[in-house]
Amino acid sequence: MYQEFTAGAGVIFGRGSISVLGERLAARGLRKALLIYDTGIERAGIVARAVASLDAAGVAYATFDGVVADPPDSVVDAAGELALAVGADCLVGIGGGSSMDTAKAASILLSGNLGPVKKYILAHPISMDTTAPVILVPTTAGTGSECTRVAIISRPDERAKWSVYVNTTLAVVDPELMVSLPLEETANTGLDALAHATESYTSNCANVHADYYGLGAIRKIAESLVLSYQHPDNIEYRSEMALAANWAGMAFRDPLTHMAHAIGDALSVAFHTPHGQSCSLGLAETMRFVAPFVPERMADIARAMGIALTGGEDGARLGDMVAEAIYGMMRAMNVKSLRELGATREQVTGLAQAVADSHLTGYCPTAVTVDVAERLLGKVFDFYC
Ligand SMILES: [Fe+2]
Repeated sequence: MYQEFTAGAGVIFGRGSISVLGERLAARGLRKALLIYDTGIERAGIVARAVASLDAAGVAYATFDGVVADPPDSVVDAAGELALAVGADCLVGIGGGSSMDTAKAASILLSGNLGPVKKYILAHPISMDTTAPVILVPTTAGTGSECTRVAIISRPDERAKWSVYVNTTLAVVDPELMVSLPLEETANTGLDALAHATESYTSNCANVHADYYGLGAIRKIAESLVLSYQHPDNIEYRSEMALAANWAGMAFRDPLTHMAHAIGDALSVAFHTPHGQSCSLGLAETMRFVAPFVPERMADIARAMGIALTGGEDGARLGDMVAEAIYGMMRAMNVKSLRELGATREQVTGLAQAVADSHLTGYCPTAVTVDVAERLLGKVFDFYC
């Protein structure tokens, strides 16, 4: 019996750490970066801080500001082709998961693989041994993409979001970049991190390395997420969430996630809801669903969330307690229900086939048929309104 886990790229963490971006690139012998972001990141003044650091270190740069939410393969192709055209020797993704995943996927092209990139973004993800350096600068405390190998990219031709695995080089996690994050994104991305930590902890591929990060992340999120929503300028809460999201990313590197993300991917394709919001809508019912299969792990999650236990709770009861705690956090942060988003019950349960087909269901601690997925989706619609 053995376990296999990976540790990920290096992380520079702390307030003001964006200032060392340029010197760290220069130390690696990198001479020209393509900065990849969306226009909101530029308006928030975050690109200017990255550029100041590059200028100070004498590292040249070009920019790609065409990132959109749920980036399609065409955006990745555009970024990768620009990197090749300007002679960039590395990619720097600045932003949330969309910017970082665009940079990660574009590294396939900059590593010498011929496009279009959709050749490599498949329903059952493949692992690419990419060589182009990728530096990731998260501006949300949620995705954890800065420390995972996975890039999630939309395939409009397939009406799906699929993935590919690549190598990354360095993460620069600066909580100061997260203070300007809008409240709704603070809630959605923080709940995404909670989904990463709780799903990986209950994955049938969980390992001791991931467990350590997962429980630590759950504890920090339970303590700091709602507070960071209520006090968005508080750098201490932002720092705790930045670290929690990074740990949650470390937690799901290998065990991956399961039903909440399978549901979230289907919801976001159907209703164009942001990734974190979509996953959070499926999270509480996912925990309730899997709890009877992993009661001891659900007890660990409950304790990490600060829920008082008598020790006599069975799996079902533990699932109820964790689900209610998650719903409590969602209500405290005004996360909209599927009804409020204009979805009908039939539309939601109609996603059962897509959920059952997701490769992520393979990481669930029990088998998921289309019927099981349909019942779960019905509860997701009924129990948070
Ligand atoms: Fe996620």
